[in-house]
Amino acid sequence: MRTLIANAKIRQEGKDIIRHIIIEKGKIVAISRGSGGMTPAYDARGNYVIPGMIDPHVHFRYPGMTEKEDWEHASRAAASGGIVAVVDMPNTQPPLLTTALLDEKHQHVKRHSLVDYGFHFGASADNLDEVSHASRRPFVASTKVFLNLSTGRMLIEDDATLEEAFRRSRMVFCHAEDDQVWRAIGIALRTGARLYLCHISQAKELAYLRKARRMIHEKGLRARIVAEATPHHLFLNDADAKRLKGFGMMKPPLRPEKDRRALMRALLDGTIDTVGTDHAPHTLQEKKGMSPPYGVPGVETALPLLLDLVNRGRLSLERLVRLTSSGPAQALGIRGKGSLAVGMDADLVMIDMDLSQEVETSRLLSKCGWSPFAGKVLKGWPIATFIRGTKVYELSGGRKVIASRHRGRPLTFA
Ligand code: DOR
Ligand code: ZN
Ligand code: ZN
Repeated sequence: MRTLIANAKIRQEGKDIIRHIIIEKGKIVAISRGSGGMTPAYDARGNYVIPGMIDPHVHFRYPGMTEKEDWEHASRAAASGGIVAVVDMPNTQPPLLTTALLDEKHQHVKRHSLVDYGFHFGASADNLDEVSHASRRPFVASTKVFLNLSTGRMLIEDDATLEEAFRRSRMVFCHAEDDQVWRAIGIALRTGARLYLCHISQAKELAYLRKARRMIHEKGLRARIVAEATPHHLFLNDADAKRLKGFGMMKPPLRPEKDRRALMRALLDGTIDTVGTDHAPHTLQEKKGMSPPYGVPGVETALPLLLDLVNRGRLSLERLVRLTSSGPAQALGIRGKGSLAVGMDADLVMIDMDLSQEVETSRLLSKCGWSPFAGKVLKGWPIATFIRGTKVYELSGGRKVIASRHRGRPLTFA
């Protein structure tokens, strides 16, 4: 059976064109001028259709922390934010340090995720054989290493163990802050690993990154370095942290305006490769308490924040798609996803560029029920999300409507 999405506005080589998207068995089979006499399953009515966001960095909290978030809530929230696939972090309770737990988690997620998914595996000082095994699973994107203390207990202190973890992994996702970024880069250069630097947040870290890339280029090294920025580091600063109190606390912390601006420039000039939300919810109660845990939710606001930037003439739609879809697909080696082209999965998001809406906590689908962006008015919102040709989300009469019977599938990482 073929499905038609009619009258989609598509950005191609700097120009807007109206096309009909024809889908079969979950894949785009044609992007054509004519509808071939088919009845549209969905009429985009001239709204933009872009490839869905792939979020390389989320904490959906299963197992053991599901009072903060769970896969039903989080994956619905993601779909409503225009996200079609997520890759989940291992700092759960217990942490994801064994393939036995990985397989149990996969079985759970398979039954509960609306969006497509993959996993980052955890590393500790004594699970390196498990790292080797997990790295052979096609749905494991990377090994996550923490170079600074954070939520969960997965810190590796010595360089020799870290090097071994780098060598055994398809890719290494790294939580490093400040000078630890340079340490991570050093290990990547020595081992020739593919390194993904999570949540770059400071001008100093950007300087390390640029220097490393120059070295790789000049010396012809094998290492590859990918850099991520989060929406909270791009759109909030340390003054917001004061205002937000516990709700503005995360690791790395919100930075001074000078760093925020440097990060925004790096997003626009191509130094930053991906936007990852670092969706890391905690309960309202925890955040209001005496010592709030670090982390903020992000999957429902990432695309609207970036679309608002497009509307203000600061970011091109092409660059947005690069950062949220084709960039992550390329960085993680995700097959068959990340662009609106014949042969690719029909992971599509329809955008109303003229819709202005306030971020309202009452509208959020995430289990945590709050957002550091609450009260912000943003222009440009996802109004429908399709995953492999199936509509999973629609904004209908101002209400978020979810196709709750759809089930996500595992991603495949090269
Ligand atoms: O703010 C953060 N929250 N930073 C992290 O590194 C972990 C995350 C979480 O899991 O809560
Ligand atoms: Zn982190
Ligand atoms: Zn994180």
